[in-house]
Amino acid sequence: MLLPLLLALISAEPADLGRDLFMHEWVPGDSRSHAGDGLGPVYNAASCVACHPRGGASPEGDIEIITASSVSTGNMNLPNLPGFSYDASFDYDSQGGFSAQFRRPTTRPAVLSPSIADLSRIHPGFRDAPGVVLHRYGNAPAYRGWRSGVVGQHGSIVIRSSRRNPTPLFGVGLIDSIPSSAIEEAARESGGHVSRLPSGKVGRFGWKAQVASLRDFVIQAAAVEMGISTPGHPQSSDPIAPRQDPPGLDLSAEDCDALVSFVGRLPAPLASSPRGIAQFHAVGCARCHRPFLANVGLYSDLSLHRMSGELSDTSSYAAFGSAPPFSASGRGDVVADEEWRTPPLWGVADSAPYMHDGRAGSLDDAIRLHGGEASASARRYRQLSESQRAELLAFLMSLEAPK
Ligand code: HEC
Ligand code: HEC
Repeated sequence: MLLPLLLALISAEPADLGRDLFMHEWVPGDSRSHAGDGLGPVYNAASCVACHPRGGASPEGDIEIITASSVSTGNMNLPNLPGFSYDASFDYDSQGGFSAQFRRPTTRPAVLSPSIADLSRIHPGFRDAPGVVLHRYGNAPAYRGWRSGVVGQHGSIVIRSSRRNPTPLFGVGLIDSIPSSAIEEAARESGGHVSRLPSGKVGRFGWKAQVASLRDFVIQAAAVEMGISTPGHPQSSDPIAPRQDPPGLDLSAEDCDALVSFVGRLPAPLASSPRGIAQFHAVGCARCHRPFLANVGLYSDLSLHRMSGELSDTSSYAAFGSAPPFSASGRGDVVADEEWRTPPLWGVADSAPYMHDGRAGSLDDAIRLHGGEASASARRYRQLSESQRAELLAFLMSLEAPK
């Protein structure tokens, strides 16, 4: 009688369904699920907070999404005449038909574009997208063995993998509130371009600015990262037991509202005293990492910029689900492999590792990896004196995550 009253008094904080869902560790057949199957059948981690601790990025950088995509391919068996080779291009059409064109003799190996039919024998998700999420875990025991063989050579097709670094979630509610027109204007000023989605909307979330709203991202994250089915986004399927629809949804519409609302209320980093910002402007960082976007102190234009080929990676990858969300509609922009959204630098002092795949351990490494449209700026950074460079880095280190 007294105990529940006491407990209610102690936990003065009101129940927050959204927070609970963000922290919840899902298991297969979870009792929290409404009519779904809980965690999986394939997933990367069991909770949002596993990849977004304190709303920030994963500190060890060891939890990541691995995507798989096909690159071109190996050599065909061409007639081996001494002193004679071919420059040949091969094409497969969508039915798996094959055509070859032989041009002048050269020493270049033949390049072949794999057919969708061949690719989807490796992973059914390739039917709908050039890249797929290769999930770390699966509930079915066979998944593990299958997964270990996906990346690598399959006859003449090579599947390569790449990583995606979890983005920090500070202030994402503010990012959601920025008018698209402000992003369009920022893109014109910085010489980048907005990510125009098939729906016509301006994308703003994700490393490729591939998602337009916080709501869409949260719902997709649950379905893709954890195999938690949500209204509006099917959970990822097991590629070796494909298209097995779960009995119902894991999250209700009310759960989704609460989760989106919680994530949208994660605090934004405070604007700090901008000591050393002069160097940031002087070497041209502020062109893309705009200190303010529609009064939000973001240090980003939320637009896409062409970086070096070294940073290139497939522009669209998809979760393999029972109703593919990314099916080729033919509309929207094609984002080049080397194009990336300027990441916001607020909180950057606390969000290592850096860059889309987390390859940079320090801010200095991240800056030195800039190329393409940012190469002039990166060159000027390298030409700064030791003390000027220290001043710029000290400025970045003053951009701390919210406490
Ligand atoms: C396995 C790790 C993992 C899990 C689990 C995970 N995320 Fe993420 N999250 C990522 C990665 C990686 C990205 C960047 C993806 C990209 O852009 O390609 C990301 C990006 C985001 C973004 C976009 C932020 C921005 O500024 O662009 C939001 C919002 C988000 N996640 C919310 C969530 C929520 C809510 C959950 C739980 C339902 C969740 N995530 C679960 C790894 C994860
Ligand atoms: C042409 C636009 C552009 C310019 C100029 C530019 N950047 Fe970037 N910056 C980007 C893009 C795009 C990325 C993401 C690249 C990737 O992930 O592969 C990035 C990434 C970063 C990151 C990593 C952030 C994270 O969360 O991973 C830091 C730090 C950074 N830039 C700092 C700077 C500094 C300092 C300068 C000036 C020397 C600068 N940038 C100039 C576009 C630009």
